[in-house]
Amino acid sequence: MNIIVTGGAGFIGANFLNLMVPRFPEHRFVNIDALTYAANLLSIQVADRPNYAFERVDITDRGAVDDVFARVEPDLVVHFAAESHVDRSIHAPQTFVQTNVVGTLNLLEAFRALPDVARRMFHHVSTDEVYGSLGPDGWFTESTAYDPSSPYSASKAASDHLVRAYHRTYGLPVRITNCSNNYGPYQFPEKLIPLMILNAVEGRPLPVYGRGENVRDWLFVEDHCEAIWLVVERGRVGATYNIGARNERRNIDVVHAICDIVADETGRSAAELRDLITFVPDRPGHDLRYAIDPRLVEEECGFAPRETFESGLRRTVRFYLENRAWVDSVRTGEYRSWIERNYSERT
Ligand code: NAD
Ligand code: TYD
Repeated sequence: MNIIVTGGAGFIGANFLNLMVPRFPEHRFVNIDALTYAANLLSIQVADRPNYAFERVDITDRGAVDDVFARVEPDLVVHFAAESHVDRSIHAPQTFVQTNVVGTLNLLEAFRALPDVARRMFHHVSTDEVYGSLGPDGWFTESTAYDPSSPYSASKAASDHLVRAYHRTYGLPVRITNCSNNYGPYQFPEKLIPLMILNAVEGRPLPVYGRGENVRDWLFVEDHCEAIWLVVERGRVGATYNIGARNERRNIDVVHAICDIVADETGRSAAELRDLITFVPDRPGHDLRYAIDPRLVEEECGFAPRETFESGLRRTVRFYLENRAWVDSVRTGEYRSWIERNYSERT
């Protein structure tokens, strides 16, 4: 099988390639990525494998997308590429619409032009944030109405709608997965968990929005990648699957857990690390709670996560402690200026 993976130099895409390229030597994986600030080719541990290739392609460039699709003739497309950070989308929504909406449209058009498209598959990777916010009770199911709150989630919602519309209108074989918050190795340290780990390790403030009461539903990144592959193999054509592992946590409890594990791994005092917690003004439009009902992907595809939140978080802390070269390589000047811009307005 020829497989195009978009955004394979980002967090989830790199983990996906690291797992799947060695597991399936008979498949050829072509990673197309624009290498934005969020990408890091050092996250890919399989770059020297004969069944892996990288091409720098911006999915907003229709001609470049058409060209790589025509050459590779993918049997499967796994579409991760996106602008993915909510706070950035609040400051600069334009890029989110370009990459997440126009980029997805370009991929669908290039896919539609392939010969015998009915025997191929377009797998669209999306988020539970398209459903908006839950109150204290209930779960997101595959039939929950879309109600996105941020420019990020609105752009992902639009991309989901386009993928579904291409299935209904042109009969394209597609599947969509909507996943809860991921964490694990190689996540860019602008997201809650890696940001808090590195700040705790370096003794810097731990900026918690509001009172830390917001709830996210956490999934270890490798479990997400395994779920995607199960859906590729066993999912129904045209179907949507929500992916999660029933790991709801309040943000403040996540930060406490990080302080405890970092203290344990480094011999420091957990109480001193917790003293670094700084409550900062809330994110505008901040969704209160996300929680996935994963029964469909469990029942139809046999998904069962391997990591608990506690075991996955410890693996993640160890990754950031043991991979300082990777951490330093993602902290470019652009990264630092973004962090300064974001937090100078909040503190
Ligand atoms: P990420 O920001 O770490 O990586 C995104 C990758 O896409 C980067 O390598 C970047 O260079 C690439 N990219 C961005 N714009 C591009 C463009 N115009 N052309 C080509 N490549 C481009 O994101 P992630 O956390 O790995 O998320 C991957 C996918 O999973 C996204 O679609 C995201 O919406 C979805 N998702 C993420 C989470 C999460 O918690 N991280 C949860 C559910 C769903
Ligand atoms: P984030 O990792 O940005 O993921 P998302 O917004 O896509 O859920 O944020 C996770 C939660 O952590 C969210 O409720 C916002 C909160 N948060 C903070 O409290 N402080 C921070 O510095 C960041 C980045 C997030």
